[in-house]
Amino acid sequence: MKDTPPFVVLISGNGSNLQAILDALPGSVSAVISNQPQAYGLVRAQQAGLPAIALPRLPEEPRRAYDTRLVEQVAAYQPAYVILAGWMRLLTMNFLGQFPGRVINLHPALPGTFPGTHAIERAYQAFQRGEISHTGIMIHLVPDEGVDNGPLLATAEVPIYPDDALETLEERIHTAEHALLVQTLQKILATL
Ligand code: GAR
Repeated sequence: MKDTPPFVVLISGNGSNLQAILDALPGSVSAVISNQPQAYGLVRAQQAGLPAIALPRLPEEPRRAYDTRLVEQVAAYQPAYVILAGWMRLLTMNFLGQFPGRVINLHPALPGTFPGTHAIERAYQAFQRGEISHTGIMIHLVPDEGVDNGPLLATAEVPIYPDDALETLEERIHTAEHALLVQTLQKILATL
């Protein structure tokens, strides 16, 4: 790894995937940015001694203007990659165009299924209706404004069991995510 940590991590919430990165790949993250000032992930970043930046959207601020401010914050750390680990805001090309091939997203569903928010809950409900037999997770590059879609870096199936509660499925998915994200980022680190 070079002297500058290669990853800036963007979050919006709990940050359990951020925590998995911090625990398994110490020294790999230079800063954590959240659009939600109350996100627990910012506390995790502080506890790890990292810059923890709250960057809420201003009232009436256009999406693209927000993304331009976000670019300034991220670019200051000169990351090799930007990791979206539970980042729940759509990014425009104002942001993505500044980091081509270098934005990586984690999504708790298989490619082409349940894009957007509440993916686990929607998979759980689809299972209850007999529409799917399992779900999964994916890690992919974000080339454009498509939602939870782009060239795949890794994917894994996650089973759903008939006696699952939503919470048990969520826990199983998060455990799988933590492992796959760390594994994938480890491979990327080896290329730097
Ligand atoms: C994760 O399950 C991640 O895949 C999902 O948000 C959760 C964040 O959990 N991302 C998306 O749904 C993106 N569309 P965490 O804050 O505990 O890491």
